[in-house]
Formats: sequence, structure tokens, C-alpha cells
Amino acid sequence: DWTMAEFRATKIAEIREQVGDGKVICGLSGGVDSAVAAVLIHEAIGEQLTCVFVDHGLMRQGEAEQVVSLFKGSYNIPLVHRDVEELFLSGLAEVTDPEAKRKFIGKTFIDVFEEEAKAIGGADFLAQGTLYPDVIESVSFTGGPSVTIKSHHNVGGLPARMNMKLVEPLRELFKDEVRELGRELGLPEAFVGRHPFPGPGLAIRIPGEVTKERCDILRKADAIYLEEIRNAGLYDAIWQAFAVLLPVKTVGVMGDARTYDSVCGLRAVTSTDGMTADVYPFDATFLTNVATRIVNEVRGINRVVYDYTSKPPGTIEWE
Ligand code: XMP
Repeated sequence: DWTMAEFRATKIAEIREQVGDGKVICGLSGGVDSAVAAVLIHEAIGEQLTCVFVDHGLMRQGEAEQVVSLFKGSYNIPLVHRDVEELFLSGLAEVTDPEAKRKFIGKTFIDVFEEEAKAIGGADFLAQGTLYPDVIESVSFTGGPSVTIKSHHNVGGLPARMNMKLVEPLRELFKDEVRELGRELGLPEAFVGRHPFPGPGLAIRIPGEVTKERCDILRKADAIYLEEIRNAGLYDAIWQAFAVLLPVKTVGVMGDARTYDSVCGLRAVTSTDGMTADVYPFDATFLTNVATRIVNEVRGINRVVYDYTSKPPGTIEWE
């Protein structure tokens, strides 16, 4: 597509102009946006870019491996893979307030970047895959006056002490345009077509306290749900689908025994930019099958519910 080819060329020139011979550090979140930003910037400035994958242990099943193999394997882009699960999970212990979780995760990301920037002898720029809707939603909701709905972890000021400028080449783009740019840059379709995943990861899909055990339970349920969606050929028709693990236990029965386990919520929406969303209307057989599989296969969950709330008034994520 000529428009994206042109955008690519223009942005590459802009990045070169902005960065000069400076060093850039880019944090990968596991999602499409930061990956597209990183590949674009790498094309512009090559070795001046260092990518850091902050593996906070809040990724979906198999996601960390996919990111590492894409960058190291397919693109041969040097990647610092920091396993900081312990740092994030210990810091999140007993944090239950959604904004407190987001703030802790955002701050800790920055701390890890800062360490990596030091390790490469300092960086002049921090690259981020911020999109246009991220910019808008962190400021206000539908143009209203200064109501912060959620603090997006990849938007906002950096601590002054970091002394780094921002490189945000996707700031004018919507999600579908980022995907188009990703294809233009040759990213594999399976990666480009992935559903959006929030920077704070599974932490904001586990209302209440986040523990390693609860992350593992959620990862299993989420993987089953997505597997069924893919098998039914519905993945590309859905903007975002995911499971959430609720801090509520209910009573059930398995065989002859009473169970007392957590509730799993399923969410699936259609959208064009994430700013408004409609519930995806699965048929009942599909949902029944997913619910049965999750309860049978995931220890710790004995009940599954489907979220029928559109955005607005609901948001897509539960926190
Ligand atoms: P909400 O839940 O606000 O989400 O309706 C709108 C879209 O944004 C994603 N999202 C995030 N993405 N950092 C991100 O990069 C974040 O902190 C964040 N919070 C929400 C969400 O998954 C949905 O696609």
C-alpha cells in the first residue's frame, strides 16, 4: 500500500533527523505496537537501537518466547531479555487498587529501562509504541474535561532524572494502521494480527491480589479460550478476547465432591480503535463448550461467566 510505504519512509527520515547519532532504548511489552515501533526504528538507525524486553511474568502463555524468537530469530535485532517476574510480583503483593497496580507497573518498567540504559552507557532517547487512542484516553474520555479513566503505563512523562527524550513514531496511528505498517515492515501475519494486550498485562485481568499462582491459573484458562476461538475461525473477527480471574469463590460440584473455587470471566469485543466496543455475540454452544473445558481442565476455577457489557459504559479491560 503506497500510503503506508510513504508513512514508513517519512517516519524513517524523521527518526534519523530526531535521533542523529544518539542512542535509543526501546521497551518491548510483548504487544504489536512496541514491536512495530522497534522494527521501524531499527530500520532507521540500526545499531543505535537497543531493545529491552521487560519480562514481568504477566504475559500470556507462550508470549515471552514468541517475542524473543521474533526479534532474535526473524529480525536479528539485538534484544536484552530481562526476567523481572520476581521484582514485579513481589511489588504487586497486596496491591489491589487498579490504579495503584498500573502506577507500580509503569514505574517499575521505567526503573528497569533506566538500569538497562545505564548498562549500555546511557541512552539519549526512549522509544515507545504509543498510539493515538492511548494519548487521548490518558488525558480524558470522549473529550471530557480531565477525567482520567486509566493511567496507561506507556504514556506520560518520564522522570526528569532520566534525561531522555521520547521517540514515539506511532503517535498519530490507530491500531488498524499500526497493523498495516507492521505488514509493510514484513512482520509475520500471525504476530501483526494479534489481539491488543495491555502493558500492565495479566495484573489488570486479576482484580484483587495478583500472585504467581493466580497468574498461572489465568494463563491456562485464557489459552483454552483463545484456542477455541482460533479453532472456530473467529480470532480475526474479534478485536480482543481474554479471560479474567475474579477474586470471588463460589460453590460447585465435581463428581461427588463439593468445590469452592474462583470464578473466571470471559470477555470478547469488536472494535475499530478500542475507544468504543461491542460485545461479541458467540453462540451459546460455543460458550458452553469453553466453560466446560475451563472448569474441567483448570484447577482453581469452578465457574465461568460471560461479560455482556459494551464500552461505554464498560471499559474493555476490567481494571
Ligand atoms: P480499556 O480497558 O480502557 O482499554 O477500554 C482500551 C484498549 O487499551 C488497552 N489497554 C492498554 N494498553 N497500556 C496499553 O498499552 C495500558 O496500560 C492499557 N490499558 C488498557 C486495552 O487492552 C484495550 O485494547
